Amino acid sequence: SFGGIVMTEISVSKVEQAGVLPTDDQLGFGKIFTDHMFIMDYEEGKGWHSPRIVPYGEFSFLPATIVFHYGQAIFEGMKAFRTSNDQIAVFRANHYLNRFNRSASHLCIPQINVEEVKAGLFQLLELDKAWVPSKLGTSLYIRPFIVSTDGYIGVKVSSTYKLFIILSPVGAYYSNGFNPVSIKVEDKYVRATKGGLGQAKTPANYAMSLNAQAEAHEQGFDQVLWLDAVHRKYVEEVGTMNIFFKINDEIITPELSGSILGGITRQTVLELAQSWGLKTTERQISIEEVYEAHAKGELQEVFGTGTAAVISPVGELSWKGQKININNNQTGEFAKKLFDFVTGVQYGSVPDEFSWMDKV
Ligand code: COI
Repeated sequence: SFGGIVMTEISVSKVEQAGVLPTDDQLGFGKIFTDHMFIMDYEEGKGWHSPRIVPYGEFSFLPATIVFHYGQAIFEGMKAFRTSNDQIAVFRANHYLNRFNRSASHLCIPQINVEEVKAGLFQLLELDKAWVPSKLGTSLYIRPFIVSTDGYIGVKVSSTYKLFIILSPVGAYYSNGFNPVSIKVEDKYVRATKGGLGQAKTPANYAMSLNAQAEAHEQGFDQVLWLDAVHRKYVEEVGTMNIFFKINDEIITPELSGSILGGITRQTVLELAQSWGLKTTERQISIEEVYEAHAKGELQEVFGTGTAAVISPVGELSWKGQKININNNQTGEFAKKLFDFVTGVQYGSVPDEFSWMDKV
């Protein structure tokens, strides 16, 4: 039993031989996977069933499997840390799994039982805990995802699904580590529109970003900043992170308008800034306003927030060829304070006064 819910027994089949643990400098992001994965199946009428932990490895699907054709799929990204006293803890697990369910409803995917999936995840973490790295800046990235599995190539809502959880020990998401990133303000492509899928964590949003991202890379930028798809005017998000501006000591981030992903790190930063007595505002902010604030010397900091990206200072913005430097391309004081606090709680060196961490 878990939190009063009667749990189905999770069957476990272990690897015969444990994999070789990576060294910290081999980590990078998302290339290495642990020994095991969690799987659960869904069938109409039967619900989610057969939770199991099996060796990480290939999985076969028929070519007609519907997810390959129409993209009815969702995912999450969360992190586990090894704390300074050698405990494994997950950051805001329920927040991520609740968002997983919100994404599910946007994609007509059946709801999961959060406590049941969390129990499966924690059992998987217990089994593969040796894979959680400990160095500051490293963590175990957790990737839950659901794919639709009907063997049918008509467009419809699938009646069967599989939920997977895979684990990947990671370092920094960006190749330049936690140094300020350069960002192109995208004026050709769009990511999402209100009424679409922008607020769901679904592959389509990431497929949408590839052309723009490839062009920005060619031009020497790390990331693109999306503007709203209708007016090409209001700042939305970066795709791998939400965006914050510090203007005249006010912390501003775009409001969740329906086309932006509601980041858990975004929420964490808002809660933290408020608890520190800072003025925080969620509202529409146009790119002109950002550039005007810069011209007046009022744009103090720009930074992104994300699970993979953590707190990522932005050193340069470029909009229609017009470049501005932020804080002399240095990490700002506020971004640094946030980074130190959030990672301090995650690694156990700062008391967890907001109860963000769930021990495995
Ligand atoms: C995250 O987990 O932070 C993501 O946004 C997913 C991907 C960019 C790694």
